[in-house]
Amino acid sequence: MTTPSATKRVLVKSYGCQMNVYDAERMTDILDGQGYQATDNIDNADLIILNTCHIREKAADKVYSELGRLRELKAERKNAGQDFKIVVAGCVAQAEGKQILRREPAVDLVIGPQSYQNLPELLARKSRSRHVDTEFPVDDKFKSLPSPSNERAKARGVSAFVTIQEGCDKFCTFCVVPYTRGSEYSRPVADVLAEVKRLTDVGIREVTLLGQNVNAYHGLDESGHSASLGELLKRVSEISGIARIRYTTSHPLEMDENLAFAHRDIPEVMPYLHLPVQSGSDKILGLMNRRHTMHDYLDSIAMMRRHRNDIVFSSDFIVGFPGETDEDFQATLTLIEEVGFASAYSFKYSVRPGTPAAEMDDQIPEDVKDRRLQILQALIAKQQRRHQDSMVGKTLDILVERKGRYPGQMAGKSPHLLAVAFDAPSDYIGRVVQVRITDSVTNSLVGTLV
Ligand code: SAH
Ligand code: SF4
Ligand code: F3S
Repeated sequence: MTTPSATKRVLVKSYGCQMNVYDAERMTDILDGQGYQATDNIDNADLIILNTCHIREKAADKVYSELGRLRELKAERKNAGQDFKIVVAGCVAQAEGKQILRREPAVDLVIGPQSYQNLPELLARKSRSRHVDTEFPVDDKFKSLPSPSNERAKARGVSAFVTIQEGCDKFCTFCVVPYTRGSEYSRPVADVLAEVKRLTDVGIREVTLLGQNVNAYHGLDESGHSASLGELLKRVSEISGIARIRYTTSHPLEMDENLAFAHRDIPEVMPYLHLPVQSGSDKILGLMNRRHTMHDYLDSIAMMRRHRNDIVFSSDFIVGFPGETDEDFQATLTLIEEVGFASAYSFKYSVRPGTPAAEMDDQIPEDVKDRRLQILQALIAKQQRRHQDSMVGKTLDILVERKGRYPGQMAGKSPHLLAVAFDAPSDYIGRVVQVRITDSVTNSLVGTLV
């Protein structure tokens, strides 16, 4: 037991993807058991963890500018007779390890995503020696990381992330993830179900199952059978209290009809699929080592629509990959129109040291990347708006998540992940209600409770 005076405060700052958000929660959970209370206030933090992202150059650079600021703050605090520890976690920690200690003397500990279970022990060390832990331990980190206490889980709202698969063996030529997250690993079915059950016990209504290649999920079930994502979705949907299930991110190579059947047969599985394609040009897809063609991708889209006609798609795009011509870029725009994506993330290709694409000829100038990104984002924005506007006049099931911006107003999400605001009592949080959509404004819908 810790006495109140022994209570310390930890601030975790997360960058990058949803898996980092999940990991941040697991880190605060494990430190909670060590007498560390989570805080948002840097001024009273005894421990600051930067949970970093290495995906693009900008993301990685951000870490060092943040560390520079923390170094100054730490010096000020030391002058005042106080101190705090700085930990670098996440994908930059994994990718750069010791280099971080060399470059930034203020850092106390560098810890990779597979080692978070070692945090308490490493922090408790009396020695002043600075440390790096970027092993890929064979024993399962998930087993050693605790679940949140009931109060903590409750405070996180009605929707939660649950990592079910981590790592990637695909080695797209532009990407660092296989190096920072290691090879693919699926959590056993029983562990996933137990975690979801604990979340629903404290009022969580929606779970988003996470994985770098979530549809490659193949966790073992109780009888030693390797379960597909479709099978796992079925099991999760049977947990009482679950209203909605989402999953992300899927890979085109791993699409199989069982997933389409899950969308058809399980009402809790939402009609939304994030399926990154990166480019609409087969030449570029080949150079990226995506191992599928544009037609394979369109076939998957058609297969999903055949079984669930109201499903909408979102995607990720990279513009300015080495060798991308105007024609290749045009093919991407054509694909975007053909699929009619309801939303998308898009990025300028960013050179990542150590990846094959960094060494490729024909790197694209920055101004060309800028122009292509603008064109692509304008097209996506138009489609996004069209999709949103098409909801006006319809009655949608909305999961009520929180209070809205105005008094008396509540906010929630539609099955297609659109934000909706409407007047309703505040104790409606966590309920799925019917809302008739009356208006479409910037980035959200407005409606009235039916
Ligand atoms: N596992 C997922 C996504 C991984 S990273 C998938 O396979 O699609 C998220 C997105 O970041 C990618 O889909 C890609 O669009 C983008 N990305 C990854 N590496 C990048 C790089 N070097 N430059 C620009 N964007 C990149
Ligand atoms: Fe990166 Fe490709 Fe793996 Fe996605 S599938 S994480 S883009 S290597
Ligand atoms: Fe970034 Fe690592 Fe996620 S590189 S996108 S935090 S897997």
